[in-house]
Amino acid sequence: MGAIQRDQAHFLLLKIHSLTGLIPIGLFLVFHLAINSLRTVGVFPYQLSIDVINNLPFLIWIEIFVLYIPILFHSVMGFYLTSIAKYNPMRYRYPRNWLYTLQRLSGGIVFVFLVYHMGTTVAPKLWFGYHEFQAAPFLIGVMNEEFQGWTGRIIYLIGIVAATFHFGNGLWGFCISWGLIVGPKAQRNAGIAFMLVGLVLTIMGLATVLEFSLNPVPVAPTKAGGL
Ligand code: HEM
Repeated sequence: MGAIQRDQAHFLLLKIHSLTGLIPIGLFLVFHLAINSLRTVGVFPYQLSIDVINNLPFLIWIEIFVLYIPILFHSVMGFYLTSIAKYNPMRYRYPRNWLYTLQRLSGGIVFVFLVYHMGTTVAPKLWFGYHEFQAAPFLIGVMNEEFQGWTGRIIYLIGIVAATFHFGNGLWGFCISWGLIVGPKAQRNAGIAFMLVGLVLTIMGLATVLEFSLNPVPVAPTKAGGL
């Protein structure tokens, strides 16, 4: 591969990395935190939302192609970009230098959190074969238990704040990368708006953790049997 072709491939990978952060991963995060926050309204709407997801046809294939492959690509590229990053927040004390460093740090934290989170929810659900209406009682049981101690609460606090920051600040990077906001004033205003998006998502996530912590309610399957 010639130097020009290598530069083009590098450029393309950077664009795909930026795009996958928004679609599908960012969109998933927004929906995921919104659906989980249904738990603050009551356990019944939350259980119904899990029932709907776990009764989708071809669920595992949707998850693999729409979620797991993009997350894996975004993570591998993210670790590569972190390994070649130039850090200088101490030398140049501008907020953007700090945000640049925090974006890479939060990405690493989200990756570790995801391994834990999926390893304690989706992985045992699949391993023990809880499908369709059996999934919700199992998953709600896992969450109830998770938030009865401080370890689980702190792990989720860190995971949620890291993910919502990474997404909010990542939206800014996406707009710069795709040339959507030009000029210092527009970039500053967009930065503030995206941080507010991150803040709203953080509040939704933490409210869910609080509700599970204060009010752990076990549930029976909405519908017994497979019909
Ligand atoms: C309030 C906090 C959260 C709760 C209560 C929660 C709950 C859950 C549950 C119950 C599942 C299993 C869904 C199923 O198999 O039907 C799940 C999966 C998942 N969660 Fe979360 N989650 C939270 C925060 C997060 C955060 C912050 C992220 C992103 C870093 C995240 C990313 C994921 C991913 C990628 C999956 C796998 C989705 C799938 O396989 O369909 N979650 N979560």
